[in-house]
Amino acid sequence: MASIVGAVTTSHIPAIGGAIAKKRQDEPYWKPFFGAFAKAREWLARVRPDKVVVVYNDHGLQFFLDKMPTFAIGAADEYRNADEGWGLPTLAPFRGDAAFSWHLIDSLVAEEFDLTSCQEVLVDHAFTVPLQLLWPTGCTLPTVPVMVNTVQHPLPSPARCLKFGAALGRAIASWPGDMRVLILGTGGLSHQLEGTRAGFVNPEFDRMCMAKIVTEPAALGGYSIRELVALAGTQGTELLNWLVARAALGGRVSEVHSNYHIPISNTASGMMVLENSV
Ligand code: DHB
Ligand code: FE
Repeated sequence: MASIVGAVTTSHIPAIGGAIAKKRQDEPYWKPFFGAFAKAREWLARVRPDKVVVVYNDHGLQFFLDKMPTFAIGAADEYRNADEGWGLPTLAPFRGDAAFSWHLIDSLVAEEFDLTSCQEVLVDHAFTVPLQLLWPTGCTLPTVPVMVNTVQHPLPSPARCLKFGAALGRAIASWPGDMRVLILGTGGLSHQLEGTRAGFVNPEFDRMCMAKIVTEPAALGGYSIRELVALAGTQGTELLNWLVARAALGGRVSEVHSNYHIPISNTASGMMVLENSV
């Protein structure tokens, strides 16, 4: 049986990838963001995952507005990155584990989640940047991309994402062999990139989410998408990825580390390391 070592949630802003490429991590603008990841990496060295399930939203690299699955999972042995137009260097392909992915897909479909299975996925900044933050010299662990539609309305509700995450956790746990799985949930926190509210952030709401995600995630499941957009911004809906990651851990969790810093680019950046409580 596989075990879930814990979850890391982090913002996935493309500018972070730019700062990594230009080695700007210690500059005053970037230090309050990058500084927090040393602790997350120390924790990773302790818990030693051997697979990473990355819950994120594609931003138009793999799926465009014409075809948008609500939930999709990669089932390949390799995932390529490609130019999205942010000026980021294209990274070397990431390892996958098709057999493990198909196990997750089988389990989730059996639990009545109607997924899109993808035997090829171009992974965007929402996948690559968080992996670079956790493995600055390159992530060599096999990965599974899990994509949630946080882009093209109608989006899955927070309550649905909690249910999907819980089923994902059960699917991981039911893998018959030994495996130590890290869940990585990316995106958020509050941000809005377009329209008259461009630049909108909501620290009070973000801090409430970071507290409730530990103690009472079901309370976050009570928000509608309309409320989430109003409170967190049009791209603040990326919180859905955090909810999937949190719910995959199951019942009670403890917060190992967290960081919150405004702004990185247009976004209120958040990072958490969560572990199951015994
Ligand atoms: C920004 C944030 C995002 O989540 C994203 O996907 C792209 C850009 C930003 O703040 O620049
Ligand atoms: Fe995003």
